[in-house]
Amino acid sequence: MPSNQLITFLVIVVSLLLQGNNNAVVEAQLNQDFYSSTCPSLLPIVRGAVRTNILLEPRMGASILRLFYHDCFVNGCDGSILLDDTSSFTGEQNAASNRNSARGFNVIDNIKSRVERECPGIVSCADILAIAARDSVVQLGGPSWDVLLGRRDARTASQAAANSSIPAPTSSLRELITSFRKAGFTTREMVALSGAHTIGQAQCRNFQTRIYNETNISPFFAARLRLKCPPTSGDRNLASLDYLTPFVFDNNYFRNLMSQKGLLHSDQELFNGGSTDSIVREYSQNPTLFRSDFSAAMFKMSLLNPLTGSDGDVRQICGRRRRTMWLENIPNVTPSLNKIL
Ligand code: HEM
Ligand SMILES: *[C@@H]1O[C@H](CO)[C@@H](O)[C@H](O)[C@H]1NC(C)=O
Ligand SMILES: *[C@@H]1O[C@H](CO)[C@@H](O)[C@H](O)[C@H]1NC(C)=O
Repeated sequence: MPSNQLITFLVIVVSLLLQGNNNAVVEAQLNQDFYSSTCPSLLPIVRGAVRTNILLEPRMGASILRLFYHDCFVNGCDGSILLDDTSSFTGEQNAASNRNSARGFNVIDNIKSRVERECPGIVSCADILAIAARDSVVQLGGPSWDVLLGRRDARTASQAAANSSIPAPTSSLRELITSFRKAGFTTREMVALSGAHTIGQAQCRNFQTRIYNETNISPFFAARLRLKCPPTSGDRNLASLDYLTPFVFDNNYFRNLMSQKGLLHSDQELFNGGSTDSIVREYSQNPTLFRSDFSAAMFKMSLLNPLTGSDGDVRQICGRRRRTMWLENIPNVTPSLNKIL
């Protein structure tokens, strides 16, 4: 590149960075057509597989959407959550919010192996998860958004970051706001994204305290849930996050909150006399507004800190780190060398 062009380029990049306009930088690196010549069958493969899996088990759409959120919130959408633990590697799957809870790994693995058969070594697991999450929402009747592609897969994962980046269901409104702000989201975006709890299920252990000990809950709703969730047992019994339409992506989550039928403590925090009440009311009255805010916020989530270019790699199997070098097996030397290599 001639030096004046190089300077212009650097000036643009630096000014974008100074503006804090990270989205613009990331959007320039990812694009919708990234695989259109190298793997034209990618989108139909993912869409078809997501559809089949949801027809077999409607909850799977919810599980895949959550997997994507838990991937993106921990050091970006880099497929790190997909890495299995091994005797010498601790990933994110046993982090507090994922252990015995995150699911859908098999579906992503199956999609990946079909994609590998068509276009070996081309498509990252991180991109497959990003497409599958969008297709899941669409398949359940929710809004769509563009999925820009070209993410690469992380070589590492961080259980500590997963523990600290994903808020617990015991969180207060203030904690939810802070946690999403750290990831770059406004309070309004946090509320819109929480609308994902219009699909899927939660385990008794995550709402036990609420249905026995909280007062901002509909007594009828609580009584019904107590049947499925005894005070000191049934930890893994399931209840729907949206009891009205658990497998339809609509705005009933917000209507439930207004009648004190949020399942998790964190859900009801969004409508409990605080600053987000008015947003919940808006979304409960205006499904179209919820759809457009949700899809815009998901688009933004999908751009969180991806690895691009020659960073990271394209895994062959989503659960396994690539053996980049024989050096990988030498302890201590490896992390820094892997960075250079
Ligand atoms: C606002 C903070 C959030 C908290 C505290 C939270 C917490 C939880 C908890 C505790 C569960 C149940 C897990 C279990 O019992 O196994 C759950 C399920 C779920 N979450 Fe969230 N979540 C939050 C935000 C989000 C966001 C932003 C999304 C996606 C955009 C999302 C998508 C889901 C889905 C779809 C399920 C159902 C999964 C299934 O059925 O397999 N959540 N969440
Ligand atoms: C993450 O949380 C889990 C469950 O609370 C805990 O067992 C684990 O040690 C934590 N990991 C790190 C690295 O803090
Ligand atoms: C409800 O609160 C009481 C008193 O603090 C406590 O002993 C009990 O374990 C709580 N029950 C649940 C299910 O959290």
